[in-house]
Amino acid sequence: MSQPDFDARAATWDEDPRKRARAEAVANAIVRRVELGDAPRTLEYGAGTGLLSFALADRLGETVLADTSDGMLEEARKKIERFGAKNFGVAKLDLSNEPPPQIKFDLICSMMTLHHIPDTAAILRAFKATLAKGGHLAIADLDAEDGSFHGPGVDVHHGFDRERLATLARDAGFDEVAIETCFEIPRGEQRYSVFLLTATAS
Ligand SMILES: C[S@@+](CC[C@H](N)C(=O)[O-])C[C@H]1O[C@@H](n2cnc3c(N)ncnc32)[C@H](O)[C@@H]1O
Repeated sequence: MSQPDFDARAATWDEDPRKRARAEAVANAIVRRVELGDAPRTLEYGAGTGLLSFALADRLGETVLADTSDGMLEEARKKIERFGAKNFGVAKLDLSNEPPPQIKFDLICSMMTLHHIPDTAAILRAFKATLAKGGHLAIADLDAEDGSFHGPGVDVHHGFDRERLATLARDAGFDEVAIETCFEIPRGEQRYSVFLLTATAS
């Protein structure tokens, strides 16, 4: 069992129009569902090239694109430079192994990353510890699927059961947990549903 090689995929990640469309749909859903306030200090976790934060760029304050893949972080860095996104920066960060950062964020957003992190309860607790009181969490990921999204031999969660995930979020210290469908990923005959979980750090 293995994880996908994100370093190898980073340079061509943004060329896929479906990934860009997914980011736009998730960003629109976040704007609809979350009281973003004025220039929230934002952590995009498992940001890859930062597609989601770039789609939200005019709504965000200081923003950190965090990932564990050097290749993704390099692409994100180049994009920040190209777009002159002065309030954006990158960080190599693995909250499943490292303590939460000292600074607190107003918003943590994450797209298609949760299923790559083995311990869901622990990462939700780490998100809670990284948010300011009243800060917002917005996670987009796959609904429970049959494992065909990644195919055999890939060691990931096969999406999430909404009720179970909502319970884990409440147990981690989040209030106002809500989950809605925000996108569908078509692949051949199949369509994979993507949810947006929103919650507030109590
Ligand atoms: C499917 S990609 C999604 C990238 C981006 N969010 C998007 O939707 O375009 C998953 C990302 O999660 C990152 N990742 C995997 N495990 C991680 C972890 N423990 N902490 C932070 N990032 C992680 C990978 O390097 C990869 O960039």
